[in-house]
Amino acid sequence: MKFFIDTADIAEIRDLAATGLLDGATTNPTLIAKSGRPMAEVIKEICSVVPGPVSAEVTATEWETMVAEGRKLAAIAPNVTVKVPLTKDGLRACKVLSGEGKMVNVTLCFSAGQAILAAKAGASFISPFVGRLDDISEDGMKLIEEIVTIYRQYPNFKTEVLVASIRHPRHIIDAAKMGAHVATMPPSVIRQLYQHPLTDKGLASFLADWKKTGQSILGNANAAAAE
Ligand code: E4P
Repeated sequence: MKFFIDTADIAEIRDLAATGLLDGATTNPTLIAKSGRPMAEVIKEICSVVPGPVSAEVTATEWETMVAEGRKLAAIAPNVTVKVPLTKDGLRACKVLSGEGKMVNVTLCFSAGQAILAAKAGASFISPFVGRLDDISEDGMKLIEEIVTIYRQYPNFKTEVLVASIRHPRHIIDAAKMGAHVATMPPSVIRQLYQHPLTDKGLASFLADWKKTGQSILGNANAAAAE
């Protein structure tokens, strides 16, 4: 399963990319606005830090302008993925841009029917928003299960299921069990994934016991140099 980071905050991206566990990034107009920086500048910087696909979203609503915006965004770096909304115009733009060999992420997906259309339009990724479905008392993960099941029936569909609007680690675990290809998550959720109180407690007791032995794996001289 690939892990994307869902933010335009470059400090957060640098910090988490340093672990080597990030495979890509996603942004949207809200996240770009929150960064307070020019879009092209921030996307270029993210592309230089994150090795894989970096989604940059168009803001036009009619297909021809979406295509023009998509071409401009794709020219920023080779790993830009053009993000288009799941509308009739968005799908038309997806078809054109994917036909030109550009990666396209179709976003704001809330039904399996929409996901079928995105695959037919040649999308590289479909982004179903699980958290926003949960917010309105629907079952976000049920949608992931449906899309994964449908896509598996058609080996000619090359679209990857990119689980978006993730709110907590349970979403990621459930998505992984279902075989979703990618999860994009805010930095806070990535950090939550690392944490477990029994890990902290266990480590504290291991280190306390180790200290009592007076030993150092690197030897005392090396340990001092490493500090
Ligand atoms: C995905 O590409 C979107 O940017 C994101 O996951 C939206 O999440 P939200 O519902 O928390 O805004």
